[in-house]
Amino acid sequence: MSAPKFTPRVFSGIKPSGGLTLGNYLGAIKRFVAMQGGAFDCVYCVVDLHAITVWQDPAELAHATREVAAGFIAAGIDPERSILFNQAQVSQHTELGWIFNCVARVGWMNRMTQFKEKAGTNAENVSLGLYAYPSLMAADILLYHATHVPVGEDQKQHVELTRDIAQKFNHDFKVDFFPETIPVIEGPAMRVMNLRDGTKKMSKSGESDMERINMTDDADTIARKFRKARTDAEPLPDTVEGLAGRPEARNLVDIYAALADITPAEVLARYPGAGWGTFKPALADLAVEKLAPISGEMARLMADPAEIDRILARGAERAREIAAPILARTYEIVGLIRS
Ligand code: AMP
Ligand code: TRP
Repeated sequence: MSAPKFTPRVFSGIKPSGGLTLGNYLGAIKRFVAMQGGAFDCVYCVVDLHAITVWQDPAELAHATREVAAGFIAAGIDPERSILFNQAQVSQHTELGWIFNCVARVGWMNRMTQFKEKAGTNAENVSLGLYAYPSLMAADILLYHATHVPVGEDQKQHVELTRDIAQKFNHDFKVDFFPETIPVIEGPAMRVMNLRDGTKKMSKSGESDMERINMTDDADTIARKFRKARTDAEPLPDTVEGLAGRPEARNLVDIYAALADITPAEVLARYPGAGWGTFKPALADLAVEKLAPISGEMARLMADPAEIDRILARGAERAREIAAPILARTYEIVGLIRS
């Protein structure tokens, strides 16, 4: 449980490894916007140091970092009300990350499914950073004593590891210093699936661009991708239970629900027994209606990279104001002298 001594604070991050997808939008950014201005202090980060755990072309990394920042702002993150910055500008992340490398156990890391998936059969040859990735993520979160972390389903295990690290640190040093962060995973689109294979997650780095909707896709491209999305031959069922065993159908209904802010049951009630010839164009129209203003605003922001850099610099300054005293106290607890 997060003790009341911790300010209710949200932290979350997105990697600038390629462009943003509809999965990032529905599973993360749209929910970040909804948490803003409520009970929480919000801290949102473009996690560039996480991106380089796999090779990134330097020019593309810088471009993607600004583009993710632009995506946050275009979707409604207000850099005044929230703190918005990129990880590399706040060195406390890597400093706390090192300490957590010395708290986390190799056995814990070996259980991380994202690492196993990414390393695949090539585990001997991936970067050491990819292995340590979840410990840096714990540092991102705990550096702000964040109590809540909104993420998609795929990140649940990493937030649970963050709780394990906080607990072990508190226990080993006999303190009650780091909170036990709560993962916030709710809504119909916590795992947006690949449009060509409903059993795989939609990701930035699939083989074919037809598998995903990018935040920067134009209206025609979005319509074509939904039209060509794989489905079965059956029409939409009357009840949500009828979607069982139909991953592609389930995915398109979930995407509609998340975009329209309604439940999957309400989607089915709106399109009773509809065939794909009816439902896919309706979904494409809705997606264009929701995404076009965001991609338009992203393009406008990207035309002035210096302004994005100013916003990130200001966000980093505000982030350091929270992070520096928490790191300083951590060093003290551990017995590290900084005279
Ligand atoms: P990443 O792009 O891996 O840095 O992910 C950033 C955020 O987007 C995390 O909270 C992920 O859980 C979320 N996310 C990424 N892909 C998806 C997806 N296909 N469905 C739902 N959430 C996703
Ligand atoms: N690991 C997350 C992802 O791949 C990105 C991330 C890094 C993150 N640090 C974080 C998410 C801290 C939430 C909180 O999606």
